[in-house]
Amino acid sequence: MYLTRQQEAILSGSSGEVAQRFMRLLERLGTIYGAEEMVPAESSQIAGVSYKSIGDAGLEFLEDLASKGANVVIPSFLNPAGIDIGAWKDLGISETFAEKQIRIIEAFKKMGIECSMTCAPYASGNLLHFGQHLAWSESSAVSFANSVIGAMTNREGGPSSLAAAVCGFTPRYGLHLEENRCPSILVGVSAELKNEADFGALGYAVGKAAKKGIPYFRGIKATETDCLKALGAAMAASGAVALYHVENLTPEASRYTGEKMSDSISFGSEELEDVKKTINSGKEPDIVMIGCPHSSIAEIRDISSMLKGKELKKPLWVCSSRATRMAAENMGYEKTIRDAGGRIVCDTCMVVAPIEDLPFRTVGINSGKAACYLPSLCGKDIVFGSTKELIGMIS
Ligand code: F3S
Repeated sequence: MYLTRQQEAILSGSSGEVAQRFMRLLERLGTIYGAEEMVPAESSQIAGVSYKSIGDAGLEFLEDLASKGANVVIPSFLNPAGIDIGAWKDLGISETFAEKQIRIIEAFKKMGIECSMTCAPYASGNLLHFGQHLAWSESSAVSFANSVIGAMTNREGGPSSLAAAVCGFTPRYGLHLEENRCPSILVGVSAELKNEADFGALGYAVGKAAKKGIPYFRGIKATETDCLKALGAAMAASGAVALYHVENLTPEASRYTGEKMSDSISFGSEELEDVKKTINSGKEPDIVMIGCPHSSIAEIRDISSMLKGKELKKPLWVCSSRATRMAAENMGYEKTIRDAGGRIVCDTCMVVAPIEDLPFRTVGINSGKAACYLPSLCGKDIVFGSTKELIGMIS
């Protein structure tokens, strides 16, 4: 792979030991995937933050990097951690877990990484633009950046996104090349998609069929950005979809009108009902958890209107970023949710927090992505529905 003089210098140690190690990793990664060169990464989003996912080995690795002076050179921010920094005790998280989680966050902070701890950084101050190259690693954020914005990022692992953050480059292969962004599977949608849960169910089904492919949706009418967020997140979890196009909606779709795709599937009302039946494994939720991916301020506003004057019979978590929660506090939405008995949980989510240790069996969710992970990673049963339906069940 061709390296510039600057990249060669980093590789020979001019920017220190950590940058040298990371440049070696990027160079090897690029070689494996046939990259001809590196491209400057404009930002990095780093997953592998929760102590639940990376354990003691990850904690030691990060503390070692931080002690050796690792420092990022591009805007870099963190995926959710395993705790809400300000409320982990109230949520029932153990002290041992919290102590190790805080050390992980401190190590990242020492490297200059913004501890935003959200999987929706684009919704809290990290603006994206079409065509820019990124090194992002959380799968739903990757899908959103590629598909809804038209930015270009592969689905990086935690180490390679950190490497890009420290070196400022990422190998140019995969979705950094326009020729690799063509759709491979046509999805004809005739089902009426009424809410975010319907989009999540569509994503759940299409991800399984498309695997690593690039779906092209036909038949989806104009919709809210939060529904596209839900669609992409589900496909990235049930399959490994990192990019999709929606006819007349997403920015690159018009390039591919008339493109011949090797495969096609249809998704009508029958398929929609079938997916929902497959996902549902419980009857009544013991708790409702919204916010996978992290809720936007618009979603929190809607939840607050649904809860005005109500008293919840069961707990409600609305997972979001700390920045969005502050906006919700300013607007009074957080108080309305709290007065009803719910809470906005930030810095974490229902998948990366150790909810397997918390005393409830069945979780009400509106997310196709959470539907993939809650049974396998957290051992919970699921009641699947829209936010409105779930709130109706517990109020
Ligand atoms: Fe985000 Fe957690 Fe879902 S990181 S996409 S809320 S699994």
